[in-house]
Amino acid sequence: MGFATNAIHVGQEPDPTTGAIVAPIYQTSTYVYEELGKHKGYDYARTNHPNRKALERTVAKLEGGHSAYVFSTGMAGIDAVFRTLRPGDHVVLSEAVYGGVFRLATQLLVHFGLEFSFVDTSVADLVHASFRPNTKMLYIETPTNPTMRVTDIAAVAKLASGRNITVVVDNTFLSPYLQRPIELGAHIVVHSMTKYLNGHSDAMGGAVVLTRPEDAEKIYFIQRSAGTGLAPMDCFLVSRGIKTLAVRMLQHNANGIAVARHLDAHPKVRKVFYPGLPSHPQHDIARRQQRGPGAMLSFDLGTLDAARRFLNQVKLCALAESLGGVETLISLPAQMTHASMPAEVRERIGITDGLVRLSVGIEDVEDINADLDQALLYV
Ligand SMILES: Cc1ncc(COP(=O)(O)O)c(C=O)c1O
Repeated sequence: MGFATNAIHVGQEPDPTTGAIVAPIYQTSTYVYEELGKHKGYDYARTNHPNRKALERTVAKLEGGHSAYVFSTGMAGIDAVFRTLRPGDHVVLSEAVYGGVFRLATQLLVHFGLEFSFVDTSVADLVHASFRPNTKMLYIETPTNPTMRVTDIAAVAKLASGRNITVVVDNTFLSPYLQRPIELGAHIVVHSMTKYLNGHSDAMGGAVVLTRPEDAEKIYFIQRSAGTGLAPMDCFLVSRGIKTLAVRMLQHNANGIAVARHLDAHPKVRKVFYPGLPSHPQHDIARRQQRGPGAMLSFDLGTLDAARRFLNQVKLCALAESLGGVETLISLPAQMTHASMPAEVRERIGITDGLVRLSVGIEDVEDINADLDQALLYV
């Protein structure tokens, strides 16, 4: 079956007891045993419940994985992936990772004996040079948030193969509709489902998609031990959102291209960072490994003052953290999503004070561009 068909039907079979085309929300914490040692497949909702199982099947299918586990947030899922490691293990990460992942690694997990190196994973030689004898994981975000650097997943996965290094890709920015990292050699895919998979800015969630049964066993153990699995209502909302993923991503992608071109031609905008523009340094890699450039972009307005004047004038675009919803969201990474990164690190990787991030929604694109234009008058 095709992607859109799978997004609508896998894990979403009609309810066997009533025939309801949409599975009910199993809003219950516990399940009654038929007799001691015998139940209907569920015992306690922290361990598992039908809405979670359904969503996990859908996400595994869409990413082409062996299995998937869904978590209370993207960060809970990413944390579970790092917890499969042992003290003394070393992880190489993309240097411009989401600020929350940077904080988790450098301010929390480092105290449990894990070692982290942040490198520009868009340069394969730098990735190779960063490997140590104790390197166990390569964690890639592509495109990076918010600098939009693209890593050649197949090239770096090849470098990791044979060294027993697990390749993890955060596919949040594109969704499996636009990028399928497992087909390119990744062992694990993670998502903030809060973004495109749910797509409506009304629920949080994380997903970890596995290709190896031994990883799946560890992730499920962590999920049920730590109690970080996604709750029934949130599973229901994300499952509902996923049903329209294909059509949403088509429109997000089309709007993303149109807005990027519009901003690129605007005299007040110094530079647009978007893999769909031929000027982007990894444009060719993006064309090869992505089905489209997507709807995330950033652009430089030069100074914090210019960015502030602009952001205080937008009306349709909402000044807010997060991304991937149907509505256009705009933010200033240096003061919002990446505030937990030290200023010198932000400066080095290009998250300047005037860099604005845009998550292009699926409103009429003329309205989005008109709103950006009127706000740019104040820059
Ligand atoms: C690329 C990326 N990965 C992971 C996360 C974390 O997800 P969550 O906010 O659902 O915990 C985010 C959040 O913004 C993100 O942008």
